[in-house]
Amino acid sequence: MTASEDPPVDVEYLVQASNVTVRFGEVVALDNFSTRVHTGITGLLGPNGAGKSTLIKTVLGLVEPESGDITVDGLDPRRDMTRVRDRVGYMPEHDCLINAMNPVAMVSYMGQLSGMTRKDSIQRTHEVLDFVGLGEERYRPIKSYSTGMKQKAKLAQAIVHDPSILFLDEPTNGLDPQGRDEMLEVIRRIGASGKTLLVSSHILHEIEQVSQNIIIINEGRLIREGPTSALMHGTATQYRLRVRGTAEAIEGLKKAISPAFKVMSTRDESGQISMLVEGEGSSATIFAEAARAGVQVRYFGPDTLTLEDVFVSVFKGGGPGGD
Ligand SMILES: Nc1ncnc2c1ncn2[C@@H]1O[C@H](COP(=O)(O)OP(=O)(O)OP(=O)(O)O)[C@@H](O)[C@H]1O
Ligand SMILES: [Mg+2]
Repeated sequence: MTASEDPPVDVEYLVQASNVTVRFGEVVALDNFSTRVHTGITGLLGPNGAGKSTLIKTVLGLVEPESGDITVDGLDPRRDMTRVRDRVGYMPEHDCLINAMNPVAMVSYMGQLSGMTRKDSIQRTHEVLDFVGLGEERYRPIKSYSTGMKQKAKLAQAIVHDPSILFLDEPTNGLDPQGRDEMLEVIRRIGASGKTLLVSSHILHEIEQVSQNIIIINEGRLIREGPTSALMHGTATQYRLRVRGTAEAIEGLKKAISPAFKVMSTRDESGQISMLVEGEGSSATIFAEAARAGVQVRYFGPDTLTLEDVFVSVFKGGGPGGD
């Protein structure tokens, strides 16, 4: 393929990575990693340090891989950074906001940077701020914002130029349950409009709710990928459930979920109760029963200590111990 002609674009897979390795000193953040991101919403799931942010940054051309190939809408981000930028939106994991500005000023400024006229950009900014659910507070400086409002503003700046591909790095980070639900709903609506979204999280439950496809990464390696329905289908499934509540309420929760989930082990982790649960029930059951029992769910998802084992067992149908 020559540099002068655009390669054919696989419209189903606008983002592709082949054999990508990224190293930071001794750390191999991506280890010969290959994947393709299908149109619609793809969840990028993995524990802390798995390589999720590195993958996103590498695909965006912000991190230089040691080896491997990447295409975004048929373009190489290393060669065609500007054209890639026009097509993608990026909601970084960490703060990317200008604290002294209000979101109207900031987001419309971002719109103008991506080539819109001032007038178009301001109009579009109000549309996207409506869409993400920021009301009159849009005229307040971002430094006065709660985490939930900041996440909305971060999402708004990512979509102001109407990109066809979106990378959302832990968009629900720091949000309370209501904020999380609102964010997931907005993501779902974007996904329904035919765009390509890669959404990272370390919470299986969230990813499972919105994604048509899932990529599981751990220690820089691809663990599993495929349609959510196929990955989640019908095998005995183990999860880590961490909760806070009175001993009585937690006992109540265990009983309430027991038809769908069996509690395999329970341990006290400095005031937080951590349980290994197994079952084929819906994760919604856990959340509904916890709310009813007055128990706060701090985590529900893969056991981060043995993520690889758990996922191999979950998705291949065997047990980590071979039973
Ligand atoms: N700029 C950097 N310099 C050195 N090491 C880095 C850098 N960025 C990432 N790493 C390392 O690369 C590995 C993958 O990090 P990455 O941030 O991609 O993980 P992650 O899956 O996004 O984790 P988290 O859920 O905590 O955000 C980690 O071991 C991390 O410490
Ligand atoms: Mg990260």
